[in-house]
Amino acid sequence: MKQHSNNTASPTAEQASEKNTAPGYPQTRMRRLRGSTWMRGMVAENELKPADLIWPAFILEDADKVEPVSTMPGVERLGIEKLVTKAQEAQELGVSAIALFPVVPPSKKTDRGDESVNPMNLICNAVKRIRDAAPDIGIITDVALDPYTTHGHDGILHDDKIANDETVEILCEQALNQARAGADIIAPSDMMDGRVGAIRKALDNEGFEDVAIMSYAAKYASCFYGPFRDAVGSKAALKGDKKTYQMNPANSDEALREVELDIREGADMVMVKPGMPYLDIVRRVKEKFSVPTFAYQVSGEYAMLRHAANEGCFDFDTALMESLLGFKRAGCNGILSYGAIDAAKLLKA
Ligand code: PBG
Repeated sequence: MKQHSNNTASPTAEQASEKNTAPGYPQTRMRRLRGSTWMRGMVAENELKPADLIWPAFILEDADKVEPVSTMPGVERLGIEKLVTKAQEAQELGVSAIALFPVVPPSKKTDRGDESVNPMNLICNAVKRIRDAAPDIGIITDVALDPYTTHGHDGILHDDKIANDETVEILCEQALNQARAGADIIAPSDMMDGRVGAIRKALDNEGFEDVAIMSYAAKYASCFYGPFRDAVGSKAALKGDKKTYQMNPANSDEALREVELDIREGADMVMVKPGMPYLDIVRRVKEKFSVPTFAYQVSGEYAMLRHAANEGCFDFDTALMESLLGFKRAGCNGILSYGAIDAAKLLKA
């Protein structure tokens, strides 16, 4: 390439226009770094790895049963025997953790969600079984009353209003119940005020200092949870919406306040939820705090990818991997995704 006679490294605008090229051209050829697979790999800024992935699973009481979730093609509710096999597969693939959600039969639901504190409940049994069968995978349990309440809300209702502090007391019992069963990470998804601090204190008082808390810190009142509520059977039951405790999708400063409070109260890790429509929140959280940050690619997001792929809009695997990489680029340390096992398999292939 012919050098310019003056001393400047790149051509002046005038010189460039004489040559009918943009300033900087041809020194800056961005495409040089995209020419081959190895080059693209060498200069890649972000990478998705199996350890970034957390797999959310729905558990059925009937141990050998497998039940498809009609609103989430590709996702099944699993009895414990089937779930154990999947947990072993996930462990084998290097998935970090499994997040457990129970499908509680209507006969066990009450106004106050009493089954949540039963030491023999579905979650506690599943934790014990998975702990034995797949000792190297993390076990995350959800703290909130919605799978257990007749009204489908995450807390206790008085005159159709959520009683925050009374709910927090039961949530502490629920968290202890899960810790006693062997959960590694307690994940409060209820969005009550003050619950992280109260749960931390309850855990410490019983000697569970090493049980971590991943708080659903910035959890929005989102329609993207629809298929999940269908999967755990809280949809039909749910009266009204969750807007008095989950966040307004219009807000992002508020998410930073939520995260800050949870960190102060003792959260070891925080989560933003949903994921794809809220990646700006992940970025802001990551820039302001140095705490490990996760996002939940929720049921409706997974369903969107599946349905679009089924309609021939794109290839599911490719769309899943691109979406998960987007979370990494936004700053996530990890992602909860119903596609975690699929993605880990693709990473291995
Ligand atoms: C319940 C809970 C919800 C999800 C996780 N925990 C639903 C809700 O808040 O109504 C949603 C997960 C998903 O949609 O995949 N506290």
